[in-house]
Amino acid sequence: MAGTTESGTPFESLYTDEALAGFDPSQALGTPGEFPYTRGIYPSMYTARPWTMRQYAGFGTAAESNARYRELIGHGTTGLSVAFDLPTQMGYDSDAPLAAGEVGKVGVAIDSVDDMRMLFDRIPLADVSTSMTINAPAAVLLLLYQLVAEEQGVPAVALTGTVQNDVLKEYIARGTYIYPPQQSLRLVSDTFAYCAEHLPRWNTISISGYHMAEAGATPAQEIAFTLANAIAYVQAALDAGLAVDDFAPRLSFFFVSRTTLLEEVAKFRAARRIWAQLMRDRFGARNPKSMMLRFHTQTAGVQLTAQQPEVNLVRVAVQALAAVLGGTQSLHTNSFDEAIALPTQKAARLALRTQQVLAYETDITKTVDPFAGSYAVESLTDDVEAVARQLMAAVEDRGGAVAAIEQGFQKSEIERSAYQISQQIDSGERVVVGVNRFALDEEEPYEPLRLDPAVETAQVDRLTRLRSERDGAAVEQALAAVRVAARGSDNVLPPLKAALALRATVGEVCDALRAEWGSYVPTESF
Ligand code: 3HC
Repeated sequence: MAGTTESGTPFESLYTDEALAGFDPSQALGTPGEFPYTRGIYPSMYTARPWTMRQYAGFGTAAESNARYRELIGHGTTGLSVAFDLPTQMGYDSDAPLAAGEVGKVGVAIDSVDDMRMLFDRIPLADVSTSMTINAPAAVLLLLYQLVAEEQGVPAVALTGTVQNDVLKEYIARGTYIYPPQQSLRLVSDTFAYCAEHLPRWNTISISGYHMAEAGATPAQEIAFTLANAIAYVQAALDAGLAVDDFAPRLSFFFVSRTTLLEEVAKFRAARRIWAQLMRDRFGARNPKSMMLRFHTQTAGVQLTAQQPEVNLVRVAVQALAAVLGGTQSLHTNSFDEAIALPTQKAARLALRTQQVLAYETDITKTVDPFAGSYAVESLTDDVEAVARQLMAAVEDRGGAVAAIEQGFQKSEIERSAYQISQQIDSGERVVVGVNRFALDEEEPYEPLRLDPAVETAQVDRLTRLRSERDGAAVEQALAAVRVAARGSDNVLPPLKAALALRATVGEVCDALRAEWGSYVPTESF
């Protein structure tokens, strides 16, 4: 035995036909584009269309991010992916006391429809699909996007893209939640219902394992806790009266891709198989699109090193290859300098070029799911699936994802894995090239991108001007209507949209919901 996999199962030094004794490809694999989709969700996969090259980007003001998006489009990116700053992600305006020092830092500052209009200036929303990494206030940013599309004359039914909208994982990892879990699930269900009616091509949620993986989750934990969250979202939508095939085709997922390529390919294949069986057998889905696990992948940020940063180019290439061999629909490749600071233009371009080499210079788009039937990868797929199913059962035993979150179960399981990884790095058992082996005595200097500190004052000035120009009384009336809907059971998105159209700010509409729903205070669990 060559040791253990990241998920804790045996990793054999040699897999033979014995490993696949009893393996029935017709049941375990199916054909590509057919249930249980182990080999991929489309019959042709990349032989018909490469995955979407969707680089996560955003910083400073809307104008600065708009310039980066138009640059990426010019370099060949085929999908947009918006990073928002923390105040926006937490539903605060740039001039809120809590926003100080964070405006435009880890993403773009968006306070109003004016900023959203600037963010997509000279970008035709009818021709791009846009992902927005926004969770607690996802409905608000989606409505701002729809308002700008209306101004461009683009009908809502034509809009394609995704809001992450996955607040449950925020309680487990990352932490950008606002409202208590039940109210958050209500807002998610309202968004599902609103999109089913108005934005049929919009992916309403990107149920994420990435951040749990970055916090230390193993591959099996990553897919188990993500799929357990997905079960909670599906159940919440059913409880809200939606029919499963009315919303499930627009659920999507988001996973990490680690350097441990073989197990990552197995992880993606196992996740597709579990989801297909879950949606058909537990939730009675009939539409094949409800059973297809469609996902975006980002290469593992936590595996980037600040030491010898160019080595990250190699790591990202291996991680990207794993995602593609695993059948991802959309991919973000990290920039090699991201462990140091925001990516420079050259680093961002190299990250995209990595995907283009895989798509246009290798032969991996010439055939579908090349690992099918592999003694090793099929065994690893079965092993990761078995551990993931055990973990999903453990969540169920605790009353489901929300109850388990409130008991701190997922968080403590992930923290235990993270601790094991850090111990293995400290002991040298887990090699990190350039860090605990093959290190340099003297690191070479690297000049990172530096953010202009004037960003915050410029953004606050724009907000002051916006508030002085708009019809304050009309905004107050519209915010009151938001509170009435939040108190009752009506869908809150229509009154939110009306307020935003009057130039109510992100912070103001989120405060209207806070006033009715309160804010979540985590229960400390040990
Ligand atoms: N055969 C037939 N049809 C095909 C095909 C094929 N081979 N390949 C693609 N297509 C079709 C699809 O059916 C689809 O049509 P539809 O819209 O009518 O369904 C269209 O072509 C586009 O294909 P995909 O839907 O597969 O690809 P997209 O890129 O549009 O969507 C997704 C991918 C995963 C479904 C979507 O949800 C998505 O783009 N997600 C991205 C999420 C993201 O970028 N997140 C970033 C998070 S960053 C973060 O959180 C990290 C930070 O916190 C550090």
